[in-house]
Amino acid sequence: MGTDSKYIWMDGKLVEYQNATVHFLNTALHYGLGVFEGIRCYKANQGPAIFRLREHMDRLVDSAKVLGFRDLPYTAVDFCEAAKEVVRANGFQSCYIRPLIFLESPGLGLNMDVGSPRVGIAAWEWGAYLGDEAMEKGVRANVSSYTRHHINVSMTKAKITGNYSNSVMAKTESVRLGFDEAIMLDPQGYVAECTGENLFLVRKGVVHTPHTATILEGITRDSIITLARDLGYIVNEGLISRDQLYIADEIFVTGTAAEVVAVTELDFRVIGSGKMGAVTRQIQKAFHSVIQGEHPRSSEWLDYVNQ
Ligand SMILES: Cc1ncc(COP(=O)(O)O)c(C=O)c1O
Repeated sequence: MGTDSKYIWMDGKLVEYQNATVHFLNTALHYGLGVFEGIRCYKANQGPAIFRLREHMDRLVDSAKVLGFRDLPYTAVDFCEAAKEVVRANGFQSCYIRPLIFLESPGLGLNMDVGSPRVGIAAWEWGAYLGDEAMEKGVRANVSSYTRHHINVSMTKAKITGNYSNSVMAKTESVRLGFDEAIMLDPQGYVAECTGENLFLVRKGVVHTPHTATILEGITRDSIITLARDLGYIVNEGLISRDQLYIADEIFVTGTAAEVVAVTELDFRVIGSGKMGAVTRQIQKAFHSVIQGEHPRSSEWLDYVNQ
């Protein structure tokens, strides 16, 4: 996966890609003390547009608060402007945007207050995370042998860099086993989320998704709940067990990187017809129409970078 671009915004200014470096003795690198976002910019009908930019930057600031940063040098509004500047400077029509706030402190100590935050925002052109084929054919998943974070061990509402070792181990195990993605259970054994996506199931025409207590509050998840309700579906947020997944008519996952992708097989069990289901297809279509700028929700959720 390439991350090439011309410029990365670092600590308030654009720097050339090869100069956006940090020292080996960096606290964030050693202890996972950073918070990040994943955002997409789409080539919409009136030009490049960032999807739910403000919500992503608000979550970035919230993540920083959860991790324990006290004073940030920038506000969510500043981050929004900087993200647009990065997209414009690189001349991208569509891209993935990666803001990161990380701790830099002398002596590599463990106290957040000894260091200070540094900020970067990168962007690069990036296709479908789970592959172009997956968008139509869906993916094969397993229930991971790794458990999702306990809510009082790692903070699941925050995109803390260190939290992602859990996702990386689960994803790597899943791919080594021959699957595409891992579904993770929470410490009580209920379905939580995937390594980088939230999860939905459809049964008897009703859409269900895990409640937010133990998961990341996905911005795509929120968008999909809204779109599904717009389409007239009932969406329930609650506890979901592993076997409820096995007998679902449809399962799909949602995330900035993956967008909306069906899960057609889980733990060697065929889900529904074994193909993307009708409800998933309808919701995926609505989502694509939003990001192309052609849906009634587009004006609310798209932020054009050149306007
Ligand atoms: C663990 C996890 N869950 C869910 C999501 C989906 O969140 P969003 O839709 O905001 O990208 C992500 C991706 O950010 C994630 O890393």
